[in-house]
Amino acid sequence: MSEVAYVNGRYVPTRDATVNVEDRGYQFADGVYEVIAVAGSRLVDLEPHLTRLESSLSNLEIEWPCSARVLKIILAQLVKRNRLENGIVYLQITRGVASRNHAFPIAKTRPSLVVTTSRTAGPSAKAFSEGVKVVTMPKNRWRRPDIKSVSLLPNVLAKQFAVLNGAFETWFVDSEQGITEGSSTNAWIVVEGQEIITRPLGHDILAGITRMKLMELAQEGNLRVTERIFTVDEALNAEEAFITSTTSFVMPVINIDGKKIGSGKPGDVTKNLLALYQEHFAKSEKL
Ligand code: PDD
Repeated sequence: MSEVAYVNGRYVPTRDATVNVEDRGYQFADGVYEVIAVAGSRLVDLEPHLTRLESSLSNLEIEWPCSARVLKIILAQLVKRNRLENGIVYLQITRGVASRNHAFPIAKTRPSLVVTTSRTAGPSAKAFSEGVKVVTMPKNRWRRPDIKSVSLLPNVLAKQFAVLNGAFETWFVDSEQGITEGSSTNAWIVVEGQEIITRPLGHDILAGITRMKLMELAQEGNLRVTERIFTVDEALNAEEAFITSTTSFVMPVINIDGKKIGSGKPGDVTKNLLALYQEHFAKSEKL
């Protein structure tokens, strides 16, 4: 079966799905995106993803291409047409098509909407059971990573840096040695007393939906979560570390910059959080 994509009002075979070469997303990365997990044909945490999308769009003064209600119908249609049980939905909205000029087009453009699906299996079972390696590099993103912009070149280079170093992810480090986030994940450590630490929300990190859900689940489970900046040194000396994202769930980190974290195996707090998250994931509501 050939996959179907949604492009500006039409469902088309993904191999034939194209956008205009003068789309501002293509020319300037002038657009935003969301990645939403699909579990048992259900869109996981759809509402918070749409809330974050609204925030990204309004920060960049890009209009919705359609109402949130219609967008939900499109997402559900695509999942259905592709008979997608488990995987992800990728949606991208750009400022639209206009002849190339950096400033916003004077004549109103129609925002472009593209939605695709993927049956990606996500990280291997081995990665979850054995944990993964992380490397660090100085942060070189713009000052608003809280906006989920498609402008991801520093993230692409950071992930490639991880690959070249035999790691799964790269954590960005700010000028004060604080860890901000990964190239496509949020960063966490667990220190003495089973205290779970993650950087507070602000302009310098993406407000991960997995991060938000995991905090709720941890608090319901009476686990101690502190939002504060932590440094590379603290991470190297932490008892446990992990990363979160829509595609990596709660992934144990067992090595940072070549140094073993804790026992060098996924820690109990991380394993517990992964179990809580998997339970939440399986319970998503049908659209
Ligand atoms: N990335 N930080 C960055 C820079 C990200 O790109 C992502 C998500 C996250 C985690 O956010 P969430 O829990 O909402 O997935 C944090 C997606 C998965 C991607 O770009 O593919």
